[in-house]
Amino acid sequence: MNSDPIAVFDSGLGGLTVVKALQKALPSEAIIYFGDSARVPYGNKSKTLVREYSREITEFLINKKAKMIVVACNTASALALENLTSEFEIPLLGVIEPGVEAALKATGNHRVGIIGTIATIRSGAYEKILKARSRGLNIFSKSCPLFVPLVEEGWLNGSVPDLVAAEYLHEMNAQNVDTIILGCTHYPLLKPVLQKVVNMDTILIDSADTTALKTAEMLKKLGILNNSSKPGSFTCFVTDLPLRFKVLAHRFLGTVIDHVSTVHLT
Ligand code: DGL
Repeated sequence: MNSDPIAVFDSGLGGLTVVKALQKALPSEAIIYFGDSARVPYGNKSKTLVREYSREITEFLINKKAKMIVVACNTASALALENLTSEFEIPLLGVIEPGVEAALKATGNHRVGIIGTIATIRSGAYEKILKARSRGLNIFSKSCPLFVPLVEEGWLNGSVPDLVAAEYLHEMNAQNVDTIILGCTHYPLLKPVLQKVVNMDTILIDSADTTALKTAEMLKKLGILNNSSKPGSFTCFVTDLPLRFKVLAHRFLGTVIDHVSTVHLT
């Protein structure tokens, strides 16, 4: 059990930001990554569909002997995590709670912004947990649907992302938030652009590191940490276009992935 892999899934490749943090925090853990590249994006799909996809992926990962699953997709965490937790016995962790924890630690003026996909923002999942953890917060949400295609196209800087970011975030600047949760796997790659357009000293919360720390805590608590001194393996599955995934994954992970397998879930 201890040497079994941690599984991480996302609608596409954005969840690799979480893999990167996991590999740093838990270098001896084996990791399986599942990117649903055939059905990405989840961010503009219905709750029913995102739940169905998340259930299929969870079943696949359990069959691959995962000891724990990290739902690295914010949209799946917002729409499906509760259902998965009640349906499956495997330990599951989403990215919303870790993001909320980091934001609550960071804010000084209790004015917090959340940006994410249409589905994540519409679900109100971040607000719900923020409000449950801390009363008296002023919360401002904004969906930023153009950020995902910009990242997928590799437009991480230049006048187009600058303009799009300024347009999306000017209201939040006017609301004087001091902390913004990057509630989507892709947004950390736009951090330099976002930092340029938000008010000075605004803290941008990327939940990847906090998620990795939470994963370590959970594994320790459950007694299933891998204590080996050898570096853990990394295995990748996608549902379409493995070569495109390999190329784009390099951008997210900073390292080359040797092999990506294609699977068909339905
Ligand atoms: N992974 C998704 C998220 O974090 C972004 C991409 C998508 O819309 O599927 O919300």
